[in-house]
Amino acid sequence: MPRPRILVTRAIFPEVAQRLSEYFDVESNTNDAPWSRDELLHRLQGKDGALTFGLERIDADLLAHCPTLKVCANMTVGYNNFDLTAMTAVGVLGTNAPDVLTETTADFGFALMMATARRVTESEHFLRAGKWTHWHFEMFSGAEVHGSTLGIIGMGRIGQAIARRAAFGFGMPVVYHNRSRLDATVEAECRAHYVDKEELLRTADHVLLVVPYSAASHHTIGAPELALMKPTATLINIARGGIVDDVALAAALRANRIAAAGLDVFEGEPTVHPDLLACSNVVLTPHIASATAGTRRAMAMLAVDNLIGYLVHGKAVTPLNAAELAQ
Ligand code: DGY
Repeated sequence: MPRPRILVTRAIFPEVAQRLSEYFDVESNTNDAPWSRDELLHRLQGKDGALTFGLERIDADLLAHCPTLKVCANMTVGYNNFDLTAMTAVGVLGTNAPDVLTETTADFGFALMMATARRVTESEHFLRAGKWTHWHFEMFSGAEVHGSTLGIIGMGRIGQAIARRAAFGFGMPVVYHNRSRLDATVEAECRAHYVDKEELLRTADHVLLVVPYSAASHHTIGAPELALMKPTATLINIARGGIVDDVALAAALRANRIAAAGLDVFEGEPTVHPDLLACSNVVLTPHIASATAGTRRAMAMLAVDNLIGYLVHGKAVTPLNAAELAQ
């Protein structure tokens, strides 16, 4: 019997490629050049599955041109690149990579908040530019972290892991807003209090975004929301580009409407809006919240487990639309 054929759309760890090749015939994008849509369509011809990276739009049009495709396995937890309705309609399974990145991503969210509040990169740029000629009592004074109020929008696994760090490690009162309120036991376990979005924006000293991207969460933070925030507050986005209106944020930062922002994700990334690049009160990182060697390996291996699980054993580990496909 011929082995299933898999496309890996970007470069990947050698041991991950090795494991895939034990089960499948694999075509890989070893030089890591992002493929155009046409190139992706061409390479998907005859493939049973794809290991994807959260970047490739899998929609009705693509699926119509790839009749052999059975499964797309994102190595990311986010899956806004999948049109799950279109995938279900043609019998294609989508999988993502939850859990394995939770603590690592929470570490980064916290680090980005601290770097933003305490002006770490701004002061380093000042030092590297040779501008540090004398000590001054107000030099780079930032916002307090310990004891200040953290507001988390999007209280899934990563949001909860950040809340625990804040409440137990830094003595921060934590408020959160989420589509649905958490169970009382979970709230108590991460010492977080549910509030509506407006109250969160008005009261938090640091607002941290971990909400998944969808049409409903597009521009969760825009000019009206920024206007509600304290002028001393910081805004941290480790969720997805498009959750924040980047142009409105740059305007708010320029006008010192809020104190600072920390951004790991951007609208239209890897391009960053020039208005943001021009602001000194923003810490900018290139979508690295889950980037430790161990975690990225675990994410990729989970995607491989999903491909093996589904195509070899008939059951994926972390499916997104298995129930819908079974109907
Ligand atoms: C994810 O897993 O969704 C992270 O954003 C990494 O891309």
